[in-house]
Amino acid sequence: MILKRAEAAVRHVLRQLPAETAHDLALRVLAFAPDLSAVAPDRLRTQLCGLDLAHPVGLAAGFDKNARIVDGLLCAGFAFVETGTVTPRPQPGNPKPRLFRLDEDGAIINRMGFNNDGLERYCERLSGFRSRTREPRGSVGANIGINKDSSNPLADYAAGLRKVAPLADYVTINISSPNTPGLRALQAAEALRPLLERICEERIRTTPVLLKIAPDLDGDELDAITDLALQYRLDGMIVSNTTISRPSCLAAPQRQEAGGLSGKPLHDLALAALRRVAQRTEGRLDLVGVGGISTAADVYERIRAGACCIQLYTAFVYHGPFLIRSLLEDLDTLLQRDGLSSIREAVGIDL
Ligand code: FNR
Repeated sequence: MILKRAEAAVRHVLRQLPAETAHDLALRVLAFAPDLSAVAPDRLRTQLCGLDLAHPVGLAAGFDKNARIVDGLLCAGFAFVETGTVTPRPQPGNPKPRLFRLDEDGAIINRMGFNNDGLERYCERLSGFRSRTREPRGSVGANIGINKDSSNPLADYAAGLRKVAPLADYVTINISSPNTPGLRALQAAEALRPLLERICEERIRTTPVLLKIAPDLDGDELDAITDLALQYRLDGMIVSNTTISRPSCLAAPQRQEAGGLSGKPLHDLALAALRRVAQRTEGRLDLVGVGGISTAADVYERIRAGACCIQLYTAFVYHGPFLIRSLLEDLDTLLQRDGLSSIREAVGIDL
């Protein structure tokens, strides 16, 4: 109770600050988070690409870009944390302001532009985490991207994969962030094929590789990407990143800011994209559902639509770490209501 009050007070203070200042401060506070990781009921145990997860709720990429506070985030109760996006060389990202809270819409617009400390520092931090933590509380993914001025994207992804694969439980190839010019063009089949060929040459079999895609692709584009992911035997797909669209329901004045939109207004688009991909893969790839998830019903819906687990970001910003515990309790209640003895029985049952 005291912890919950303290957390609500911290969140209240953070809300008064500019969004990026609040984010930086939250990273500092979370580094010292008390242990909020509840023991999840066995019913919620699941797997992602062969990794055992205590429950299906993970943190999406972009929150801890530099792998600074992995321990704190696992302590906060996530079953897995995706760090990054990391690029080969450090880069400052776009000029500020570049992060906007749309309070009226439960949403965020960001055009951070892959601000990060680069692969070398990132790998130092991740290996520090590995040597400190003999029995981590959860799994850690590494999301890799390319520098804004990259002259050889394929070589950059290859270098990223080579360096992070020995340190991460899985690696995500991010070709869907809207804030790096040209990045999303890599989703076109003729660009994606050579990239996946290169990834195949570079990957080590012990570390699963997933592809993270945008929600703004049409059905044919989603099918083409999914077919390539299957052909090149990737382990999974993450659906989805932020959207460049601006649904007409948006009310906040910041809605015209350029960048990727996340949170509630992304829900329907991300769910539809997941459904399309799940129908195509028919269980042959593990899918992670992301985008606008903020309630246990959202988690359950995404799992029933074919995801084996989910990630969230924006809801964590709005509701804080106690959200995870309440999601898990409510999710367990939903499973019991439907007479399911494991969350894994729910994967894809609505398809
Ligand atoms: C992101 N996201 C993101 N994704 C990614 O693959 N690499 C990144 O570096 C980032 N950076 C990032 C920064 C900020 C401020 C936000 C809000 C989001 C996208 C994120 O991982 C997720 O896919 C979307 O935010 C959708 O999920 P939510 O936020 O609706 O739960």
